[in-house]
Amino acid sequence: MNLEEFALKLEEKSRLKRVKKPISKKLQCSAIMHELDGNAVFFEEIKESDFRVFGNPFSSKELIGEYLGLSPEKLVSTMINALENPTEPLLAEKAQCQEVVEEKVDLDKLPILQYTQIDGGNYITSGVFIARDQEYGLNMAFHRCMQLDKTHFSVRVLERHTMEFMKRNGGELDVAVCVGCPPNVLLAAATSPTLGESELNIANSIEPFEVVKAKTVDVLVPSMAEFVLEGTLSMNSLEKEGPFLDLTGTFDFVREQPVLTVKKITHRKNAIWHALLPGGKEHRILMGMPREPTIFREASKEAKVLDVNITPGGCSWLHAVIKIDKKSNEEPKKVIEAAFKGHSSLKHAFVVDKDINILDPNDIEWAMSTRFQADKDLYTYPGKKGSSLDPSAKQPEKLTCKAGFDLTIPASADKKKFERVKYPKIELKKFLE
Ligand SMILES: Cc1cc2nc3c(=O)[nH]c(=O)nc-3n(C[C@H](O)[C@H](O)[C@H](O)COP(=O)(O)O)c2cc1C
Repeated sequence: MNLEEFALKLEEKSRLKRVKKPISKKLQCSAIMHELDGNAVFFEEIKESDFRVFGNPFSSKELIGEYLGLSPEKLVSTMINALENPTEPLLAEKAQCQEVVEEKVDLDKLPILQYTQIDGGNYITSGVFIARDQEYGLNMAFHRCMQLDKTHFSVRVLERHTMEFMKRNGGELDVAVCVGCPPNVLLAAATSPTLGESELNIANSIEPFEVVKAKTVDVLVPSMAEFVLEGTLSMNSLEKEGPFLDLTGTFDFVREQPVLTVKKITHRKNAIWHALLPGGKEHRILMGMPREPTIFREASKEAKVLDVNITPGGCSWLHAVIKIDKKSNEEPKKVIEAAFKGHSSLKHAFVVDKDINILDPNDIEWAMSTRFQADKDLYTYPGKKGSSLDPSAKQPEKLTCKAGFDLTIPASADKKKFERVKYPKIELKKFLE
């Protein structure tokens, strides 16, 4: 299913908002996306471009589940399975992402949005970079791109695999930037497997898909992408990138970053541009969801873990709630420490019992108010490496105080004192006519 078909599917279920009036890529699309955050919104006519824009298409677990044909509760186990059993995608001869090969590169023709007044420029936010290293093979990762002119971007590249590949290749790396990818590709691109494990294979295990050879660079790209921008990323020429609104909703500052020179653009006929709202729900879900399975895996070494939720209130990055079937008082602390191993940027970990709804912040707070004593159940870990995204951490060293909260009932306690009393069930309809 491409983005066009997904939009139609959502429309049939009355889950798509359509904006038919002409709208500007500068600040207008983003304002509407922000108002409708959590809902898919389709912009039929962009004033500055012939292409249409799809905003927030995967901005809830329900929307991702809708595309993949999975209930939201099944997503963590699907991700765990994909991380443990990656499989290679099929190689296709022809693909929709290459239906049109543009004669000339002109980035001004694309609906690259400006999201907020303070942004350093127009930004690609949903771009998945695919690059190859002779030894390690293919790597896939998100990197936001700030448009500099008709053929160049400055690109935010953290010290991860894309940067490593660039350094190993003399500072210059051929890349394909894919926009309008299906959610299996997006979720896989946000995982951080060890060097040499291709995220393309993780995506294929979430849902099988086809790849095709890019036209001018030696990488494979998802056939179903809407656009592919091929070119060279270079750390030998740096340009200013930022400021830009980041995951926490606060501003990321200006840095000197590698420059991407775009040499070829291919796309589907009538292609749709995927706009991802920085700091919005889609950004948060794609960041957080791939860490739930890694926390689950580590914590399961210490206790019977039933579920993990990286909460939106914690920017879908800094807070995790782990539901366990507790057997001993030693387990919560071990689970907290395992969670920090499973997601190194995690700042606060909350461990709850199996009767707590970890998708409901009120229920988690209820557990804290009725089962937690700060002098016994709080574990603090000062001076640890946390997240570059936390404005309260000591930056750029990322130094923070991590903390774990044991919100579980003490193993030896009289459980009845802590458990919610249940009201009788009744068939309301019979009484409210
Ligand atoms: C929506 C989204 C945007 C992201 N933007 C960036 C970015 O601009 N720069 C960056 O280096 N990482 C960014 N990331 C994080 C990387 O994609 C992530 O760290 C990835 O796991 C790194 O891949 P690697 O382990 O293959 O290096 C973003 C992640 C998401 C989900």
